[in-house]
Amino acid sequence: MKIFLDTANLDEIKEANSWGILDGVTTNPTILSREAGKGRFTDILKQICEIVDGPVSGEVIALNAKGMVTEALELSAIHENITIKVPMLPDGLKAVRELSAQGIKTNMTLVFTPSQAILAAKAGATFVSPFIGRLDDISHFGMDIAADIITIYENYGFETEVIIASVRHPLHVVEAGLCGADIVTMPFGVLERIVKHPLTDSGIKRFLEDWEKVQK
Ligand code: G3P
Repeated sequence: MKIFLDTANLDEIKEANSWGILDGVTTNPTILSREAGKGRFTDILKQICEIVDGPVSGEVIALNAKGMVTEALELSAIHENITIKVPMLPDGLKAVRELSAQGIKTNMTLVFTPSQAILAAKAGATFVSPFIGRLDDISHFGMDIAADIITIYENYGFETEVIIASVRHPLHVVEAGLCGADIVTMPFGVLERIVKHPLTDSGIKRFLEDWEKVQK
């Protein structure tokens, strides 16, 4: 399983990267807006690419295929690891098909159903991002949708990789692993919560206390 960070915060990315477990980064306009005042968003994406050795998703804003492709080419020029996030729309499918023909990696985003994911794969998307937490928010079992996407992709040998997105807590990561997702992208706070366990902390405390006793 590959682990991506769903953030544009350079401190968080540097920290996670230093743990040796980071495979990529995903951003979106909301995530980049949180870094307002820290420089141009293209510079932030470039800096992320210089930290992480893996795909870094930047999203297009245009809602028509021509505009999406134009923006995608500009984003691609930032760094070879930039992957273009394109929303699930008819024009998004057109743009993904065109970009895929040009050898540009794409991440079809805002995907909420297996049928949308089938179209993303047919269009040649490199990645597809089902938003699990947002489905849970409206009383759907988000991970069931992801599991269905993975089964369908396996049934037909689609090469599009599934990124479990809109992750809210460590159990989403476990469930993603159980259904065989290729990638999970998560906020830094979720990654920190995965590491932390009260029994780990109390275990370390006890080991150190016992060690101290025999040093006297
Ligand atoms: O990768 C998609 C993610 O950024 C959406 O997460 O928490 O806004 O639903 P969220």
